[in-house]
Order: sequence, then C-alpha cells, then structure tokens
Amino acid sequence: MIDLSTEYLGLKLANPLVPSSSPLTGELDSAKRLEDAGASALVLPSLFEQAIEYEQKQLEQFVHSQALGHYEAQSYQPVPEDYTSELDNHLERIQQFKASLDIPVIASLNGISTSGWIDTGKELQQAGADALELNVYYIAADPDTSSVEVENRYLQLLTDLRQHVSIPITMKLSSQFSSVANMVLKLQQAGAHGVSLFNRFYQPDIDLETLRIKPQLELSTPMESLLRIRWIALIRGRIDISLAATGGFHNADTIIKALLAGADVTHLCSVLLQQGPSHIATLNSRITRWLEEHEYESVAQMKGSVCRSCAINPAALEHSNYLDVIKSYEA
Ligand SMILES: Cc1cc2nc3c(=O)[nH]c(=O)nc-3n(C[C@H](O)[C@H](O)[C@H](O)COP(=O)(O)O)c2cc1C
Repeated sequence: MIDLSTEYLGLKLANPLVPSSSPLTGELDSAKRLEDAGASALVLPSLFEQAIEYEQKQLEQFVHSQALGHYEAQSYQPVPEDYTSELDNHLERIQQFKASLDIPVIASLNGISTSGWIDTGKELQQAGADALELNVYYIAADPDTSSVEVENRYLQLLTDLRQHVSIPITMKLSSQFSSVANMVLKLQQAGAHGVSLFNRFYQPDIDLETLRIKPQLELSTPMESLLRIRWIALIRGRIDISLAATGGFHNADTIIKALLAGADVTHLCSVLLQQGPSHIATLNSRITRWLEEHEYESVAQMKGSVCRSCAINPAALEHSNYLDVIKSYEA
C-alpha cells in the first residue's frame, strides 16, 4: 500500500493535492466534492483588502449621510441591522466549512498594507482557519521604490501578523524578486511556515480598436510548472520551510516532478476549473501508480530526491548549462 501522506505547514495531510483559492473552494458544495475526490486540504478564496476597504467606506458614507439628515428623513432609510459584511460572510464560511469538512481549511488574505490585517487575521484564526496564506499582490511599478523597500513590505506585513496570529502562515510569492531564495530565507526568519511558489499575475492586454487596457483572465498551461519546479529544487534542503508548488500543475507528471524537486504539496486551480473536482481522484491514482512502478513506498521517500542539495550535478539546475541548451537547438 503506497503512502501518499505529506506534511505541509505542520499539518498532516493524506496526500499532496491541495486546491488553491478559486471559486471552487468558496462554495460548500464544491468544497465537499473536492474533499470526496481526495483533496487533502483547501485554500479558501482570498479576502481582499480592497473589497473590505471599499465596503467600509460605503458603510461609513451611509451612516454619515444619515447622521446629517433630518430626523424624519432618517426613519425612511433602513438602518442596516441585519447587514452582514464581506468579512462576516467570510468568517461564517470558515465556521461552516470547519463544521462540514474533515480536511484542513486554509484562509487567504490578499492585500499590501498592515493596517486592518492584524484584526482580520485574528478573526480568521478564531473562526477556525487551520493556517493563513498571505497573497501580497503588489506590482512594484514605481521607479523610486527600491527592491529592498518592496521586500520590506512583505517582511513587515508578516512580522506584524506573526505577533498576533499563532496558526501557521504561508506566503504566496511572485517569482519577480532579485533573489528568490534569499527572500524565502528572510520570510522564514520572520516566522513564515511556508511559501507557495509562484503566484500568477494576470497580464492586462491592449484592445487594438479602442486602445483601452482590457483585463483578461487566462488559465495556466503545464509549461508554467517548470519555473516552479526549478525554484523548489533550488530551495529544498537549504531553507527549513514548507514548500507548495502552484501554477501550471495539470497532470500527474508535473506533480511528480514537483514532489521530486521537494514540494510538500502542489496546488491545483486551473485544471480543476477545467476538469472538475473529480479529477483529483484521477491524479492521486496516477501518482500512486508511478510510485509503484518506480518502487517507492511513499511520497515522503521520493520527496526532494531531485533537489539541488542532493543533485549529482547542481549546475544543471542553475545557469551553467545554458550554453549547452542553446547549442542543442536544431532548426
Ligand atoms: C477564477 C480564479 C480565481 C482565483 N482566485 C484567487 C484568490 O482569491 N486568491 C488567490 O490567492 N489566488 C486566486 N487565484 C489563483 C489560483 O489560486 C492559482 O494560484 C493560479 O490559478 C495558479 O494555479 P493554476 O495554474 O493551478 O491555475 C484564482 C485563479 C482563478 C483562475
């Protein structure tokens, strides 16, 4: 019997397949289908800083406009006693998921500023979240902002939250750091239990007729997994931190490669949106078959066996074979 279990963020998981934030992880019905198909944990859709701020401003304006109004006029406006905020809904969802699912539920916060996140983080923890993923969605477009300042934003946010939240925290990172490995090390030193490599930034396009910027959402392709696999292989064994591979994991082959590189889990999103929750069962059975065929007893046994720390030729994972690669091209 092959043992697929793995440990991620200190959580014991039945296997390495964890659906990442998406509409599928936000509804109890689809979350149950993910669990039934074999998902070992799930990450909820993010709570967005922008959305909460906007909602708070709307509410303040509403209350303020009432306070300025005439007494009679106020009575015509319903006081929102039964009003439930985005945050309230989110907390309720965590409680509902925790009561209905057996797998760990990881909450996700998306934002760039510290203010507000501490209270929110505490509330997510109280609602029962097993861990917290921070998605610092920040495009460093200002030429006056240095890379150190950008990195400090991440570190400050984590440090502040770490002081108030005791559940494991993982950071969903972009690949666009000058030194990814050093950034991961600094996050680990600041108290992160894990990192998810890498976030996908959605690239806006230009409409050639209207000359307007048009936002577009493209699902990932399996080719994108290679960047993740490479960086996990470079980091595994050198920094003591949980590693999640995210972005482009659509089939068992790419997932097995991520595990060989040293990932503790792989996150799945696009493939589940395309194939449905039941695809997790197919992936788990293909991974099991590969392990059997290659005479491994468990995921733990094969995990990290092709990482840089244990590679016979570490240079193959780094830059020095670049020349061989470009020379290998045949027209
Ligand atoms: C429709 C949709 C909604 C998403 N919502 C979130 C979100 O709320 N928070 C987040 O961190 N990532 C979100 N993501 C990103 C995914 O969790 C995942 O990181 C990304 O799609 C890459 O993984 P994949 O290649 O398996 O799709 C979303 C992606 C899609 C397609």
